[in-house]
Amino acid sequence: MSEIRPGGTGTEGFGRLITHFLKKDQKNTGEQNAAWSELWDTDQSDLWDRGKPSPALAEFLERKLDHSSLRKTEGQILRALVPGCGRGYDVVMLALHGFDVYGLEVSPGAVSAANAYAATQLTHPSAENFSNQDYQPSDGHGGVKFVEGDFFTSDWMGDCLREEEIFQGFDLIYDYTASYILPLLPLWCNGFLCAIPPSSRRNWARRMQELLSPTGILVCLEFPLWKDLDAMGPPFGLNGVHWDLLAEGGDGILHSSDDLTDEKQAERRGQGQGLWKRVQYYKPELSFDQGRGTDMVSVWKLL
Ligand SMILES: C[S@@+](CC[C@H](N)C(=O)[O-])C[C@H]1O[C@@H](n2cnc3c(N)ncnc32)[C@H](O)[C@@H]1O
Repeated sequence: MSEIRPGGTGTEGFGRLITHFLKKDQKNTGEQNAAWSELWDTDQSDLWDRGKPSPALAEFLERKLDHSSLRKTEGQILRALVPGCGRGYDVVMLALHGFDVYGLEVSPGAVSAANAYAATQLTHPSAENFSNQDYQPSDGHGGVKFVEGDFFTSDWMGDCLREEEIFQGFDLIYDYTASYILPLLPLWCNGFLCAIPPSSRRNWARRMQELLSPTGILVCLEFPLWKDLDAMGPPFGLNGVHWDLLAEGGDGILHSSDDLTDEKQAERRGQGQGLWKRVQYYKPELSFDQGRGTDMVSVWKLL
């Protein structure tokens, strides 16, 4: 196994946020979740908050997504999930593009902030919610609901049900981690692929499989792809990781020395035994600067 090297993110990362998480027990989920809440409760969301939705998601919704391919019945309002949604920028944006959207947050303070943000943006949306200012959703806006819960547990899922409904999964889940501070976070920022320890990647894939409708799509903003796979994270370098984890059925733990064409390694990785099929893969024209021009969008369906 290759040696894990320091990530070279520089000393700038050892600021308030790092200090905050360094005091917490990595293995204690309750403590980690409480640590996020502390940051929200002490008004420190500026440590990661970009103040706007993901440009790559707006581009996807307006130019790449075929809504009708997701719809099972005429007039059905599609349902989306944004785990770890923070102030809910992408939740609101998805709603402005016609989805009923659930924003999942482990912190009650984030849920309050998100409700306040959504109240103004749903009536007076800012231009950043759209990549094309003339865009109009064909079915009007959807609704927004912020739910308090931990991505890795199931107890919040009842809050995402419509009246007398059995859970059938989300039609779209958006997974990303791209904020100003996130490249500098220590590895116990749980919830999103580049931020979780590599050993938890299978758990992330299992949760996505449980949460997605059999006909739904998982939309991933793949970041960071520029980073050495053996460098310390988070963010952990993800070049090839989504493919290994979802398409190959591997553990998603790749090293820069791996020869992915080697048959023995392919066998260890799962050899095409994954439960997901990649249906779209492209470089977005617009993304956050932190992607250094290498971000990719991948869209996945369950087989
Ligand atoms: C770095 S912030 C990003 C927030 C937002 N996505 C953004 O980009 O502005 C990560 C967010 O995920 C939430 N979070 C962390 N772990 C979580 C978990 N296991 N389940 C749900 N939310 C979580 C935190 O409370 C925090 O608001």
